[in-house]
Amino acid sequence: MTIDIARARADTPGCAHVLHFNNAGAALPPTAVIDAVGGHLHREAMIGGYEAAADALPLIERAYDAVAMLIGCARDEIAMVENATRAWDMAFYANAFRPGDRILIGQSEYASNVIALLQVANRTGARVELVPDDEHGQIDVDALAQMIDSRVRLIALTHLPSNNGLVNPAIAVGRVARHAGIPFLLDACQSIGQMPVNVDEIGCDMLAATGRKFLRAPRGTGFLYVRRTMLDRLDPPFLDQHAATLTGPLSYEIRHDARRFENWENFVAGRIGLGVAADYALGWGLESIARRITTLADALRAQLAALAGVTVHDKGVVRSGIVTFSKATEDPAALQRRLRASGINTSVASTMNARFEMEPAALSSVLRASVHYYNTEDEVALFSSAVAGA
Ligand SMILES: Cc1ncc(COP(=O)(O)O)c(C=O)c1O
Repeated sequence: MTIDIARARADTPGCAHVLHFNNAGAALPPTAVIDAVGGHLHREAMIGGYEAAADALPLIERAYDAVAMLIGCARDEIAMVENATRAWDMAFYANAFRPGDRILIGQSEYASNVIALLQVANRTGARVELVPDDEHGQIDVDALAQMIDSRVRLIALTHLPSNNGLVNPAIAVGRVARHAGIPFLLDACQSIGQMPVNVDEIGCDMLAATGRKFLRAPRGTGFLYVRRTMLDRLDPPFLDQHAATLTGPLSYEIRHDARRFENWENFVAGRIGLGVAADYALGWGLESIARRITTLADALRAQLAALAGVTVHDKGVVRSGIVTFSKATEDPAALQRRLRASGINTSVASTMNARFEMEPAALSSVLRASVHYYNTEDEVALFSSAVAGA
């Protein structure tokens, strides 16, 4: 199926106001999501928050089914949380690491994950080890395989880095993890909603994702997938009376589904919106979405690379909808401000988000332009001439 661009744009009111190439920051939501979230907030105000939630229970539960369908898992393997970082943390901190344990990560691991990894390494005596990149700039899967031994407790990978247009070979990494019987934690924050992501095909045991980026859900939403066989092996870092039950004055039992990683109070309207966004993406089809994004991103890279003084920095064999570049005569922050003043949204990606990745290339920051399927070829051309300063 090809995407009906006119319908996609008619469904997206923000398209009338901005040229939005900041989908890796937060995408423009479709009307279906805006109405679902706004409708629930209104209902909370009219009849009360608890009462509105009780009435909306089928919609809240639908969100678990929609997200499960999106990534090919069962609904009881999904926890709804606030964002990708909290999803990743809930899974990561639930592991019991011991001195000498090894945790293998890729060079493009997201900065928040790296901070958590280092904190846990300091606390427990586990070691965080970097798997090198291959000649294409993606994780070197052969090197990873050679690093495996009986002390490796976890493999963590960021599927699509925040600061670069590469797509890491998650399926190949999953094969290594499965073969060795090592848990595999995937940060799919930038891939969910952008391309097909299937947890069985990838072979990941835990997956963290956010709502607001390519999935087009509201800010403040995210989810964690935990494979059923892993659930009882992970001790959540926080528990409340939703994640566990007091079974006596001094005893408790943790629930056996992935909701052990949730907390009781939450952004109910956002969860409903997340479910609607997942259903909306499934309606277009993730293959179709990915094809359209690739077409636009390839065109954007080609046009930018043809401009004098512009360097495109994306690496990898397979590229995503994230396009990173710099301009010799204009600092990324100044360029972002100039574009914003003419109604064009982008973001600046700095070394702080990805030190392993950017420091060796001596890049302190780059401009990040990220396209979605509702963007157009005309917008790509307009953007390129705006970058050129025409
Ligand atoms: C690759 C990657 N992982 C994790 C995150 C964190 O996501 P969130 O802000 O939803 O916690 C981001 C955010 O930009 C990201 O790009």
